[in-house]
Amino acid sequence: MIRIIMLGAPGSGKGTQANLLSKYLKIPFISAGEILRQEIKKNELTKNYIKNTINQGKLVKNNFIIRLIKKNIQEKNCYNGFILDGFPRTIEQAQSLNKTIPIHCVIHLNSKYLDIIERIEGRLIHEPSGRTYHKTFNPPKKNNIDDITGDLLSKRKDDKKRIIKNRLKEYDIYTKPLVNWFKNEQIQKKIEYLELDSSKSINRINKKIIDYINRKIK
Ligand code: AP5
Ligand code: MG
Repeated sequence: MIRIIMLGAPGSGKGTQANLLSKYLKIPFISAGEILRQEIKKNELTKNYIKNTINQGKLVKNNFIIRLIKKNIQEKNCYNGFILDGFPRTIEQAQSLNKTIPIHCVIHLNSKYLDIIERIEGRLIHEPSGRTYHKTFNPPKKNNIDDITGDLLSKRKDDKKRIIKNRLKEYDIYTKPLVNWFKNEQIQKKIEYLELDSSKSINRINKKIIDYINRKIK
């Protein structure tokens, strides 16, 4: 049983790696961003709040996302562990998670600003499922078509330059301090922490993560 957090800036590859690792370990991955995008579709009461916040590139309120994530990780399919993608993003979120359920391992994808812009601008998504491609680095088999369903791919609404800038600002303000918080947890031997250079290829990063998990945890 293993519980993992994928940490990193927008576009660092959290979702891509969480998805690959989830298949390898046969445990679910829970994407905070995806949960919020699904909420927009199904929750009349909160959809405007979520939509406006995401489209400004701001983080939603801590209490709001904490409640949604806790609901998800208490589901039956998470009994054997899970991978969290994009949660926690603030120290307050991490402390709250810590009180509910201990995490074994944090994988931090460390990225450079220029890589991020190129990745986000080239990203294509299959909206109903959240499946992600990149027009150059991870293209679908057929141009602009989802490999599984044959549906047309689209762009995420918050993948615009102006919004990306704000997402990166929020990362600097709220999530960078969290990285140091986790490093400190590692020093106190409360958690395993792995930092990887996210500019390497998708396969190379995946291999490093799997080697690490096999060495440290399994
Ligand atoms: P979220 O959906 O989590 O967005 P994000 O954090 O900005 O991260 P991304 O999904 O953009 O990037 P990723 O790291 O998953 O990269 P990916 O694998 O797709 O959150 C959206 C919004 O929801 C937030 O802005 C906020 O408003 C709200 N929110 C979410 N969580 C919250 C929280 N905890 N608290 C408060 N608010 C929250 O890769 C990107 C692209 O690059 C893809 O095209 C991919 O194919 C490609 N790629 C991936 N890896 C590589 C590689 N190694 N080499 C080349 N290309 C690669
Ligand atoms: Mg993602």
